Amino acid sequence: MTDAHPVDLGALPRDFAWGTATSAYQIEGAVDEDGRAPSIWDTFSRVPGAVDGGDTGDTACDHYHRWREDIALMRQLGTNAYRLSIAWPRVLPGGDGPVNAKGLDFYDQLVDGLLAAGIEPSVTLYHWDLPQALQDRGGWPERATAEHLAAYAGLVAERLGDRVTQWATLNEPLCSAWIGHLEGRMAPGQADLTAAVRASYHLLLGHGLTAQAVRAAAPGARIGIVNNLSTVEAATDSDADRAAARRMDGHVNRWWLDPVHGRGFPADMREVYGVDLPERPGDLATIAAPLDWFGLNYYFPQVVAADPDGPAPYARQIERPGVPRTGMDWEVDAHGLETLIMRLHEEYASPQIRITENGSSYPDTVAPDGTVHDPERAAYLTAHLAACARAARRGAPVAGYYAWSLLDNFEWAYGYDKRFGLVHVDYATQRRTVKTSGRHYAGIIAAHRAG
Ligand code: NOJ
Repeated sequence: MTDAHPVDLGALPRDFAWGTATSAYQIEGAVDEDGRAPSIWDTFSRVPGAVDGGDTGDTACDHYHRWREDIALMRQLGTNAYRLSIAWPRVLPGGDGPVNAKGLDFYDQLVDGLLAAGIEPSVTLYHWDLPQALQDRGGWPERATAEHLAAYAGLVAERLGDRVTQWATLNEPLCSAWIGHLEGRMAPGQADLTAAVRASYHLLLGHGLTAQAVRAAAPGARIGIVNNLSTVEAATDSDADRAAARRMDGHVNRWWLDPVHGRGFPADMREVYGVDLPERPGDLATIAAPLDWFGLNYYFPQVVAADPDGPAPYARQIERPGVPRTGMDWEVDAHGLETLIMRLHEEYASPQIRITENGSSYPDTVAPDGTVHDPERAAYLTAHLAACARAARRGAPVAGYYAWSLLDNFEWAYGYDKRFGLVHVDYATQRRTVKTSGRHYAGIIAAHRAG
């Protein structure tokens, strides 16, 4: 290791996937081109006040037209892996029904371009952009949406499965269910506990049905699910805060982990929500489809206190003074990543763990000489990679790391103001500039490869 990268990553396997990650709606733009129909995010981003600055994904990073340039950037960083998502409303504009050939063609070319550049694609089938047509028929609170997801996924796998091996069914279903249907801060913008719990159930059912559909269409597929987990600690030793921490752990971690690992939905949380699950015989077995890998998105730890008057899970995150925070106001705690990897390894026996997202937003500026100097992001990256290496040294099967994100992009309800990229995007000109953190990542990757 050189002085610039004084961290020992030697425990990470030789064939480690060094990647970056993005998602379709956040980077593609071209929302009404080549037969794409609106998704719930096209609708939601037009609701006054829903997204900071009134931003939308209409143009985003214009990746739909600039993907060749973006693959060149991935090469410049020295990455050998890339996590992308497929826009369901490009492939099946109505959610079900006729296929839009041009939609599939786009991803077909993209996959070929990645492979030609020596970059392994990891494809996420659902990263929050539900076709609006399905929302109009009830969306995730309805069982049919899970069935439509699997049918769409099967079509994609049939087309790309000869070249794509790594598949993720869902990205962060927690956000779709809890933030989209309970807190209302994301599409579709509902605030209704019953709808949220039903949505969570059907998302997980959709995961299981999708795993089956992808395996049927592409027998060599390696299938995972991507969840955002947090470490959860009680703010004080009081019984009330400790119970609140347990509920928050149920809400953000166990509700999503237990069913896919064959343990059913946690009984304590069923009681907390008090909503009947729309269960049918056989569903739990479907949801517990075998996983080839687990995708962990990690950003921040949570310290929580009881909040009896708040919404479920009646616990709220508190702000600890003096803890470093990113531009999202999220606490920086790399140790939490090691803790969560070890939890997946020890409690859930994950066969393979991929860090499918990790990264930080800071208010970057372009210097007069055109460079973007972001030492905090570089430090965040190093600290979290070191956490992965410590977990690997302790025996966890850590197989890859996909930095969020390749590019600055549309940060959902925060719009373009929050920048997570290793590459800066000037939205007025679409000019891309590799940040210091991007060069830092390239150095780490090169050192590990030479290692
Ligand atoms: C999680 C999401 O998957 C991604 O879309 C988002 O931009 C990042 N976290 C940062 O918030």
